Amino acid sequence: MRFGHFDDARREYVITQPDTPLPWMNYLGSEDYFALITNTAGGYAFYRDARLRRITRYRYNVPGHHGGRYLYVRDDESADYWSPGWQPTQSPLENYSCRHGLGYTIIGSTHAGIRAETRYFVPLGENLEVWQTTITNQRSTPAKLSIFSAVEFCLWDAWDDATNFQRNFSTGEVEVEEGMVYHKTEYRERRRHFAYFACSEKPAGFDTQREDFLGAYRGWERPSVVEQGHSCDSIAYGWQPIGSFHIRVTLEPGEEKQIIFLLGYFENPRDGKYDPPDSQTINKHGVKPVIAKFTDRTQADTAFEALRAYWDELLGALQVETPNEHVDRMVNIWNAYQCMATFNISRSASLFESGIGRGLGFRDSNQDLLGFVQMVPTRARQRILNLAATQLPSGGAYHQFQPLTGLGNHDIGSNFNDDPHWLVLAVGAYLRETGDFSILDECIPYDNHLGSETPLYEHLQRAVQYTLDRLGPHGLPLIGRADWNDCLNLNSHAETPGESFQTAGYKEGGIAESIFIAGLFVASAREMAQIAARLTGRIQETNAEFEVKQAGYYLQLADQMSDTICREGWDGEWFLRAYDGAGRKVGSSECEEGKIYVEPQGFCAMAGIGLDNGLARQAMDSVRSRLLTEHGLALLQPAYSKYDPNLGEISSYPPGYKENGGIFCHNNPWAIIAEARMGNGEGALDYYLRINPSKREALSELHRCEPYIYAQMIAGPEAPTHGEAKNSWLTGTAAWNYVAITQWILGIRPEYDGLRIDPCIPPQWNGFSMRRRFRGERLEITVHNPEGVSRGVVRMSIDGTEAEGNLIVPRPGGGERKIEVWLG
Ligand code: GLC
Ligand code: GLC
Repeated sequence: MRFGHFDDARREYVITQPDTPLPWMNYLGSEDYFALITNTAGGYAFYRDARLRRITRYRYNVPGHHGGRYLYVRDDESADYWSPGWQPTQSPLENYSCRHGLGYTIIGSTHAGIRAETRYFVPLGENLEVWQTTITNQRSTPAKLSIFSAVEFCLWDAWDDATNFQRNFSTGEVEVEEGMVYHKTEYRERRRHFAYFACSEKPAGFDTQREDFLGAYRGWERPSVVEQGHSCDSIAYGWQPIGSFHIRVTLEPGEEKQIIFLLGYFENPRDGKYDPPDSQTINKHGVKPVIAKFTDRTQADTAFEALRAYWDELLGALQVETPNEHVDRMVNIWNAYQCMATFNISRSASLFESGIGRGLGFRDSNQDLLGFVQMVPTRARQRILNLAATQLPSGGAYHQFQPLTGLGNHDIGSNFNDDPHWLVLAVGAYLRETGDFSILDECIPYDNHLGSETPLYEHLQRAVQYTLDRLGPHGLPLIGRADWNDCLNLNSHAETPGESFQTAGYKEGGIAESIFIAGLFVASAREMAQIAARLTGRIQETNAEFEVKQAGYYLQLADQMSDTICREGWDGEWFLRAYDGAGRKVGSSECEEGKIYVEPQGFCAMAGIGLDNGLARQAMDSVRSRLLTEHGLALLQPAYSKYDPNLGEISSYPPGYKENGGIFCHNNPWAIIAEARMGNGEGALDYYLRINPSKREALSELHRCEPYIYAQMIAGPEAPTHGEAKNSWLTGTAAWNYVAITQWILGIRPEYDGLRIDPCIPPQWNGFSMRRRFRGERLEITVHNPEGVSRGVVRMSIDGTEAEGNLIVPRPGGGERKIEVWLG
């Protein structure tokens, strides 16, 4: 069953039933001000950091979730009232729809002949959200209405806000001036920022104290102010500050009216906090013009059009037309859109990430770049430099760092031994997309310490060296606290409930080894070889310890590690996962459970290991026969039925969930890429479609998460809820699936010297086309498949002239070219 449908022409998902299985959400904002908004206008807003600068409150894990952009329409003649976005009153609605678009959401409905529709968006470059509410009287008689709006402010630090009540119930402060509400808690002390809630109309009344608005013992579904039809004009002294307006509207039959609400964040200069300067009143000289601008309908409309144009431009980097609508829709719209969200928000704020937890992950953010770099290469460049600055002199990295300060997170520390290699892959992706080798010369510190700067290239060399310095008894990389799989903790031993599996009882010098890191190392060393081969004369040696190595050095490292994997890391029918702290095999046919893991199979084959000796094919055949389910590839089989302290967090999950045999959508694309590398176009697309959200839309009741974006995981075969998705939005799944479909199945792949065209498609496809911006040019690529093959370019023409091979060499100076390619 579906709860809505795709509107591809408008690039929207249209939800037509408000009670979706879970709240289905969207993100607003693109730079500093971000908002989460669900299909019933729930969610919250923050400025840059979801924990430290939370603007409005949200409560997870209570039925229905609480917190949002509340609107109530009241018929002043009948006293009937309802919420046009369904929540919180849940009154019956006609023609409810929520249109989640790119950076905006439109929610509307009709009740008793009154149509109310609100468009929510964050204008580009602004720190505010606009709500444009249009009310239309569809009755044959005049309507006398009251509109009430409400938001609940968060007292900035979301963690403190949810815990420190003895203080916070006394600190809340607001100002109300000319019908605008200013939230200024802690402005009297160290803050110079405030939030505001404003309205285009002169309100008939307002409220800023939650209890006055709701009435004692009442919830948002039945506020006494709305019931009685007029505000209390309350001022919050402590307790729970809110912003609420009461607007009276009389509409003739057929008449419509638009009301604009603004929720925003504003920072004053340090020496200009107050007006007059010796008062305690917020200086509003800066914010008032902003409010005036966006409460104007024409200006708001113009800002909305600019947002649409911005997305047209971003998505214009890569558009495809294929025989499969699910491919087109995800590549052209939603997968790219999700890549932007993961780039912006990392793993911090979603309906599964509370915004008070982890900062930016080193591993995660580097992988997010892989699907983002073609959209805004300059932002990708800056992110790479920020990430590199949290690398340690050893070449390792802080596992996480704080977005506001850029500093590494000491609590979790380092020793996730896969981390540094993701930086190599991210830089590789950047270079292949842009050809901008100057990034390698950028001088970047280690651990943000002034004076420790070296060129970025040396950071990459150290990343490789980090693994060489940490090889175990089989010559395979030591795993440290964990590798990509955060939950496979072979060197730590957490005994007490609640302890961190990764950090408690961690044995420095533990000898557990990871075949996954070995595969990643090969990929990373090959990337380094490609870079090194193009460096001649560029990087000056800055440090005797780190002489610039030649391509041959890295190729040799890659070959050696490949051999070691094939020798020490092969189980007979697939690649082992690891050796544990006592040297026992993990992910082996000898194990009782967890016999085969997907990560080393997909990653090793994708990195080219075992392609020449048949091991890769055999490993991927084992994946197909042992891990494939109708909902995608399970992470491992059989799932662990009991907790095993030697394995760590992985077996803490009930069988079939998360890393314990769930379908982890993040590593399915590695298997897709592996199949494509081996020429199996049909198999690759089959794996791709099993987890494709648009394809799964038809299963919405089972899948439960949004059908327009990927979730981190889908419950695996041992789970009673097999097929149910969780942790939607913020996952490396977005970037990797984007890479898998665009670069490996469609096979249009940025390489160091140009754009490679090497599709691996199902033989039934008679071709496809792609429009691609690449290094300043616009390329229109058409692929023909007259013979019905999967792979193999036999002919290519550029602007009608036959060309050699299948690499489009960039042409400086921009412009447009038409490329035609024939498979055969
Ligand atoms: C989560 C983490 C990611 C990790 C994965 C597997 O998605 O964000 O870093 O690789 O889980 O454990
Ligand atoms: C848990 C999750 C894993 C995630 C990690 C982040 O271990 O299972 O997916 O990567 O937390 O710290």
